Amino acid sequence: AIDGVPVTPPMGWNSWNTFGCNITEQIVREQADALVVTGLRDAGYRYVVVDDCWAAPERADDGSLQADPRRFPSGMAALGQYLHDRGLKFGLYAGADDKTCTQFLGTYPGATGSRGHEGRDAQTFADWQVDYLKYDWCSSNADHDDQVSAFTAMRDAIRDTGRPMVYSINPNSGVAESVPGAEFDWGGVATMTRVTNDITPVWSTNADDSGAQGVIDIVDAVAPLASRVGPSAFNDPDMLVVGVDGNPGLTLAQQRTQMSMWAMMAAPLIAGNDLTRMSTQTLDLLGNRAVIVIDQDDRVSAGAPVDDDAEIWARAIGDKGLVVSLTNRADHPRAMSVSLGSLGLVGDATVSAVDAWTGRQYQAANGELTVDVAVNDTVLLQIA
Ligand code: GLA
Repeated sequence: AIDGVPVTPPMGWNSWNTFGCNITEQIVREQADALVVTGLRDAGYRYVVVDDCWAAPERADDGSLQADPRRFPSGMAALGQYLHDRGLKFGLYAGADDKTCTQFLGTYPGATGSRGHEGRDAQTFADWQVDYLKYDWCSSNADHDDQVSAFTAMRDAIRDTGRPMVYSINPNSGVAESVPGAEFDWGGVATMTRVTNDITPVWSTNADDSGAQGVIDIVDAVAPLASRVGPSAFNDPDMLVVGVDGNPGLTLAQQRTQMSMWAMMAAPLIAGNDLTRMSTQTLDLLGNRAVIVIDQDDRVSAGAPVDDDAEIWARAIGDKGLVVSLTNRADHPRAMSVSLGSLGLVGDATVSAVDAWTGRQYQAANGELTVDVAVNDTVLLQIA
């Protein structure tokens, strides 16, 4: 929808899930430095996105958004420069209606939203060398035409600046009992569209009425939306919760499932953990090259369930490659099988596959590939 942005899913880090409104320029610089020293930048994580609460409550005399001088004393242009000097990209958050989300919720005296200020705000972001705009609808009004006009106005304003920016929209916040990001295809408007409510670091939240969702709930919500994905047009199932504490939180196997399924969906990979205090296990999950290669495949076709089985997905890769994910949702380890016929591989007895996580090789037998899968883990089979 906006020229000049990458055709494959954006990868990076976002401040919200760990720092919320306590974000400062010092923290952003430290997280950026951590992307570099851990090797995650070179693995592809380039966008550093400063979420809500960076802006001063009042606009400047000329009507421009301005940084909160207490927490961003050097200003946003300087922060953008810091990131660009390190081979990173600069992302910022703004409100698509008249408020940001924390202002809407009354939890922070935030800046006003950009509604009616689209041209001025897009130019401010371009002047600051912003590469990525997270644009968040936080209003109980979810009139579709109104949302279309607000999100389209900012898309056009970004285009008018001439600066390519990943345009990441969330039409869902504050909207009770519906998820407009999932109900409508926003691919002509945005680079990436949130199709769920806010993720929490748990496996499932079916009993939770807060609108937050667990990893496996999100996988099920995104499954029917695969056909919307293409070059520079992504479903956004929200941020990675790999390495993020929660109650009860996620097991290592469940975190591997999140990485696996976000790669199957061709989803943006936006980490949200504290990168300066990561375990080796977290770094190995986020930085796994084989999984990133699947996510970033430049055919940009999203995977979907095979024969309506929520546990088994297939994704077409490159010219004729195929990746199959097998997720064990049961509470005990078990052998799982997928038939070659269901994958369109009928009659080819020589099929072999490699698990992207372990490198282990599998050979089809009796027309099926069979793997052992630990509780809530995912095996990610690459079929050559
Ligand atoms: C909404 C979004 C979150 C985050 C917060 C910030 O809840 O969905 O991702 O941006 O607003 O207030």
